[in-house]
Amino acid sequence: MDRGVTVWFTGLPSSGKTTIAHRVEAALKERGHKVEVFDGDVIRKQLCSDLGFSKEDRDTNIKRIAFVCKLMTRNAVVAIAAAISPYRETRDYARKEVGKDFIEVYVKCPLEVCTKRDVKGLYKKALNGEIKGFTGVDDPYEEPLHPELILHTDKETVEESTQRVVQELEKRGYIQAPRPMAKQSRQ
Ligand code: ADX
Repeated sequence: MDRGVTVWFTGLPSSGKTTIAHRVEAALKERGHKVEVFDGDVIRKQLCSDLGFSKEDRDTNIKRIAFVCKLMTRNAVVAIAAAISPYRETRDYARKEVGKDFIEVYVKCPLEVCTKRDVKGLYKKALNGEIKGFTGVDDPYEEPLHPELILHTDKETVEESTQRVVQELEKRGYIQAPRPMAKQSRQ
């Protein structure tokens, strides 16, 4: 019987949360695990389409995602959240909501690098003043103090970061390390 767990990715926009979340998802599915990804951008079109980016709305967004992750986790699913989740206190709320099976992964990348990547062109808009209250520009991001794992996406490849998450799940006993291939007996 699989054990459920919530893997909570937090980090600046364009730090790599979504990319790594989906790579971890693929790696785990290949091994036969049940996995769901809750990506901020997607959730905000569905479950949280009523919300904006004030502190209050961001908190509500995270609380809803945490609630769904809790349900998944207790049903033996690996729930992967990929949302900026900029406030420490709200991430701690998510941790409490889910319970012991919670792994906070800080997707760490310097702001300059995220601004250069600018996957959706939103840093540019924020720096031009076309968007107000953009995380990292004129809205806060509170770094995790004690995350279970830190990924340095400016230094590691996507593959390396993905493997580090998978290994963390193995180390903590949520998934099993693949068995080494049995040696073929030569006859
Ligand atoms: S969170 O702060 O509530 O955790 P979430 O991860 O769901 O944010 O959504 C972030 C996404 O919303 C970004 O990737 C970006 O595409 C979009 N977005 C639009 N406006 C903002 C903003 N002001 N700050 C951050 N992200 C924004």
